[in-house]
Formats: sequence, C-alpha cells, structure tokens
Amino acid sequence: MRGNRLDVHTHGHNHRWGTIVEGSRKRLSHLSFGVFEDDFPRFKERLNNLRVPLLEAPPGFESNGLWFHSPDGLLMELRVADKTSPNEKSSFMMASAPAGTQSSPNRSQAPRTNPRRLAHVLVFTADVAASIAFYERVLGLRLSDRSNDGIAFMHGIHGSDHHLLALAKAQGPGLHHLSWDVGSINDIGLGAMHMADKGYAAGWGLGRHVLGSNYFHYVRDPWGSYSEYSADIDYIPVKLRLARSGQSRTRFILSVGTDTTQRLCGEPRDGELVGGSFHDSRNESTIISTILNTSLNCL
Ligand SMILES: [Fe+2]
Repeated sequence: MRGNRLDVHTHGHNHRWGTIVEGSRKRLSHLSFGVFEDDFPRFKERLNNLRVPLLEAPPGFESNGLWFHSPDGLLMELRVADKTSPNEKSSFMMASAPAGTQSSPNRSQAPRTNPRRLAHVLVFTADVAASIAFYERVLGLRLSDRSNDGIAFMHGIHGSDHHLLALAKAQGPGLHHLSWDVGSINDIGLGAMHMADKGYAAGWGLGRHVLGSNYFHYVRDPWGSYSEYSADIDYIPVKLRLARSGQSRTRFILSVGTDTTQRLCGEPRDGELVGGSFHDSRNESTIISTILNTSLNCL
C-alpha cells in the first residue's frame, strides 16, 4: 500500500505490474509499455514524425516516459524499463501420478496458486482495425491473430507470448481483463476454487482458447472486469518466420460458460476465422520490449 494506492505484484517478482488507485468510479487510467534504453530516442522520433501529441503524466504517475493517447483516447506511456516478458515459452506442467498413488492433493493441503506474471491485457476499442494500425506503427507491435474486426491479438518482436495486448471491439476504450500466467491446469483450478471460496465465484472456464492456445479461467472482479488465470499460451520467438494466413486450426474447447465474456473471448464461428500470421522480426527499427505496467483507477 502507498497511501490510497495498492501496488500489484506477483510472487517472487520485483516488477510492479499495476496500481489500483482510489477513485470515484472505475476507470482504466493508463497502460505503460517498457522499451529498451537504446530504442527510446527512436520512439520519441517516431511519435514526433507521426505527429502524436505528447501529454503530461497524470498526477501521481510522473515519469521520464512519453505520454500520449491511443486513437480511442486511452492514455499510454512508453518508458525505459527492463524486459519482463519471457524470453522463452513459459514452463507448463501436466503431471500424472503412477498407479497406486493419489495424484490430487487433499483439499486442506492444496497449495495456493501464485501467478508468475502479468501476461497480457485485453482492452476495448471502438475500431479494432484502426487500433491494430496504431499499435503497429507507434509501438512496433505485430499482429498474431485476429477474428475479423471483432478481436485482435498483438505481440512484441523481442520474444513474446502470442499476445501481450489484445483488442476487442466495443463502444469505446476500457478494460476487459488482465491475464495472469500460471504453470499448470491444476494451478488454474486451484486458483479458481480459492477465488470462489473468497466470494468471487462469477466467471467463466475452465476452457482453452483457439487463438493463443492458453488454458483459462476468468474471475470477475468487483468492478465488472476480469482477471484470467492462464497457462501454456503459445510463444512467438524472435526468429519465427511462420505465415499461417488463411489456415484454419483444430478447435479444442474444454468448456464454455454462458458469461458475456464468451462473446469477447470465445472462439470464432465456422468461417469466421481470419487467419492471421506470426510475423517475423524483420530487421526494422521497430522496438518494443514487452513489459506491461497496468495502472487501474478503480472505485
Ligand atoms: Fe486473455
């Protein structure tokens, strides 16, 4: 706690993933993206060339970063920071016990689930196509997958999960969910059970996404957004050169609830999938390290 602020950390990680600040209503204050120090001047030049107006930092978040609005008016920051997104695919464990052994722990002895890191953020946008163009041109993010103009998934070029930022069509900007990486389906289930025990049973899952491949369970927060337990998301290494345009994929859904989240994060209907492509890293000066700082100004 810092005054009326609650910083969000994960177990065993120094990075501050987000801050929840007291406010009169729920509002996504801003998103912060980290960049390598050497690249910072080029980002500044790019913003200048694209005539993106620079803004003052919001009160309490003063920094040496660059502040500006997305096309939707979502405030964002670029600043020098360490890369906190993974440099390789995050570990995932699917354990099975040998015959004659109990595999599942007794409930009283079940371990707590400790998310390892903030993996991605899904924000709303009024214009998915325009937002894709903006995040490509300004931040150097690349499109991983999209489903028409309803939802899109973007990754960083320095080694990244399938998406560190996702965009879903809505009337305007806002936060749909924060996704927290865990190491197994067991972790997802135990986390969901723990949250239900604490009174947060509303949500959706267990399931598995097609776009990104991660297993998930969403828990609705007190403000109507969600936190996602996520495991085994696809990873896009730096050198990957894989074009999948137009290629359909096998579907595998463990279960799908009836929550409205389904509309946003569910699987596209037959014929609806627009095959995206994993873009290669190309030797451009596109430069975003894949760090997310999410600051939430909530109730
Ligand atoms: Fe997600």
